[in-house]
Amino acid sequence: MQNPFRFGSVVSGDDFADRRLELAELGRELRAGQHLFLLSPRRYGKTSLILTLLDRLHRQGLLVAYVDVFRTTTPVQLMELTAQTVLRAAESQPERLLRLATDLLGRLRPQVGTDSRGRPTLSIDVGASSRGALALQEDVLTLPEQLALKRRRRLVLVFDEFQEIQRFPGASLEKAMRSHFQTHRNVSYLFAGSKETALRDMATRERSPFYKFGRLMALGPIPAAEFAPYLEARFRRGRLRISREVLDAVLAAADDVPYNVQRLCHQLWALRAGRAERIAERDIGEAIAAIVEQDAPHFSAAWDRLSLHQRQVLQAIARGGGRNVFAATYLAAHRLGSHSSVQTSLRLLVKEQVLAKVQDEYRFTDPFLREWIAIRQG
Ligand SMILES: Nc1ncnc2c1ncn2[C@@H]1O[C@H](COP(=O)(O)OP(=O)(O)OP(=O)(O)O)[C@@H](O)[C@H]1O
Ligand SMILES: [Mg+2]
Repeated sequence: MQNPFRFGSVVSGDDFADRRLELAELGRELRAGQHLFLLSPRRYGKTSLILTLLDRLHRQGLLVAYVDVFRTTTPVQLMELTAQTVLRAAESQPERLLRLATDLLGRLRPQVGTDSRGRPTLSIDVGASSRGALALQEDVLTLPEQLALKRRRRLVLVFDEFQEIQRFPGASLEKAMRSHFQTHRNVSYLFAGSKETALRDMATRERSPFYKFGRLMALGPIPAAEFAPYLEARFRRGRLRISREVLDAVLAAADDVPYNVQRLCHQLWALRAGRAERIAERDIGEAIAAIVEQDAPHFSAAWDRLSLHQRQVLQAIARGGGRNVFAATYLAAHRLGSHSSVQTSLRLLVKEQVLAKVQDEYRFTDPFLREWIAIRQG
């Protein structure tokens, strides 16, 4: 029997535990033409939510396009990918796609091919000159509005991991995007990202090109009231029972982060399926130990890259929790030294996404790393 729990990649359809409120609100805003920034720590389920949302909006008659900025390493690649996804929102058939591309991006001489899955791809040869790259940028950044007008339908265009554009040299692309996008009346933009501070800064710093371009929305964990019945049904499908109390303990052990929850349930199922009738609370510890062992090489490598003080701060948080970390008693109890050194270490740990700041608490983005540290400390 197949393990009923999925983790690691995007979940869709039946595997997607329905975030009803989030889907409704995002859909309403985008249909109304509101631009959005969607922020959450890693592995909360942004990409799965976005793709599910786009699928719905598509069925409601909108044009939808999804660009993963992580996939690109240069502005030219990003523009090419944007052109391809935007045009594919309207045409999936190669000849028609080429006709549309020639119509809207004629001077760039676009070409159409097919990828390994048989879907049409678009390529544009800009040559080595910066004039070519600039023409590409100009034409691709006007494309979304042109397409929406031509098809008389609203286009929803998503840039996932949008903060990554800041790694491209210079700020000109970001500025150019803003100056074009702000004139678009028939396109709703959604910018998502898991580097929360970076994306928040892009949207809220006065000097940043995307200052106040859209509304900021923070994605939280899947509410237990929605997630628990989904998980319970999955266990049942896998011929195991689990009580709501034990499920709540599972959610707590995984800090409610959807990826971690699925991972822990996956392990629990693997441990007990065919050997027991129900999951007991004491099984959780065994499942976590197994996961920690699987991930130990990865944790060691990450540990190796940290400074001694960063390691000390992590040990403190694993032992003493992540609240009130600047209190004199906390600093003294964990021998952390000065307030400012703790501040520096925390800032870097958040930047590296080892920790996330959730309200007033510093939390491990991966609770299994916390366990690994706790086990090694004895
Ligand atoms: N709605 C959901 N229902 C069930 N599982 C989910 C849901 N959302 C997320 N997950 C779990 O979390 C994992 C990560 O989801 P996803 O890749 O969508 O998150 P993300 O926030 O985009 O992550 P990343 O920060 O790595 O880009 C999934 O593989 C799945 O195990
Ligand atoms: Mg993602």
